[in-house]
Amino acid sequence: MKLRHILLGLSFAAMAFAAGAQQPIVIKFSHVVAQDTPKGKGAEYFKQRAEELTKGRVKVEVYPNSTLYKDKEELEALQLGAVQMLAPSLAKFGPLGVKEFELFDLPYIFDNYEELRRVTQGPVGKSLLKKLESKGILGLAYWDNGFKVMSANKPLRTPDDFKGLKMRIQSSNVLDAQMRALGAIPQKMAFSEVYQALQTGVVDGTENPPSNLYTQKMHEVQKYVTLSDHGYLGYAVIVNKKFWEGLPADIRAALEKAMEEATKYANDIAKKENDDALEAVRKSGKTEIITLTAEQRKAWKKALVKVHEQMADRIGKDLIQEVYKETGFDPAKF
Ligand code: LMR
Repeated sequence: MKLRHILLGLSFAAMAFAAGAQQPIVIKFSHVVAQDTPKGKGAEYFKQRAEELTKGRVKVEVYPNSTLYKDKEELEALQLGAVQMLAPSLAKFGPLGVKEFELFDLPYIFDNYEELRRVTQGPVGKSLLKKLESKGILGLAYWDNGFKVMSANKPLRTPDDFKGLKMRIQSSNVLDAQMRALGAIPQKMAFSEVYQALQTGVVDGTENPPSNLYTQKMHEVQKYVTLSDHGYLGYAVIVNKKFWEGLPADIRAALEKAMEEATKYANDIAKKENDDALEAVRKSGKTEIITLTAEQRKAWKKALVKVHEQMADRIGKDLIQEVYKETGFDPAKF
């Protein structure tokens, strides 16, 4: 962990406090992706609306692209109060001890954004955010990215094509099981390290929505991208609970409104951002884009849906059933 950063952050916070109420309240919002992504743009939108709605009494500093903290560090920094706001992917809450969020990583559990929304906006979504409170964290909202593609330096058309490939994943055991179900060797790795790992051959391939693939230039070091839509990637926007509850009520209300607006904005742009990124990858001519045939897609589903059952004890059988009820997913069909 970058202890120096954390100590610096804490001493700045103490100085701001000592300087009195005239100083704006600073919210450091750290994240790991590029600015030109659904999350990056959502964070900037929140900054703008938060500063407007509080008439400058709050200043939001957005740190994109892991410039302040990498994946694991940022969660520790939030708990320590060195940053106030993050939006980690839902695949990254396992190490914090809230592994139920990994249900969002189950292959093919959502067919589209509408099914996903029924879960995030319904009782399941709320109950998951509630679980963060015992960790000193409040969950404010869910932000979309999109559906993932698979990439490698060889074409990935059938599950057999994955045999023996080293595939970078986020820190989720469901993703680990997913890659193993395909015969690949999963490697958990911070997002900030993926480009170099692909470039140097430390890993052979990876998965992400096109917006992340393109803005990290992964397509420059991956010859093939398969439009598999095999899983979803989204975020929970979270804050340090003590910080948030310690805010003056009028400020907190204004920030909640800014968050509501930013959530709508981020979720409205997510699909187009990904469509545009895929188009840009296609135009770059560096990567061949593979569309699966109906039969190939069926083979992927057959290989991957069994991960639901394998991971039921980790996520909770009842929770998975609740999601099935919301989305109409029927595992018996595969
Ligand atoms: C990843 O690590 O692949 C993604 O979660 C990055 C992100 O935040 O979108």
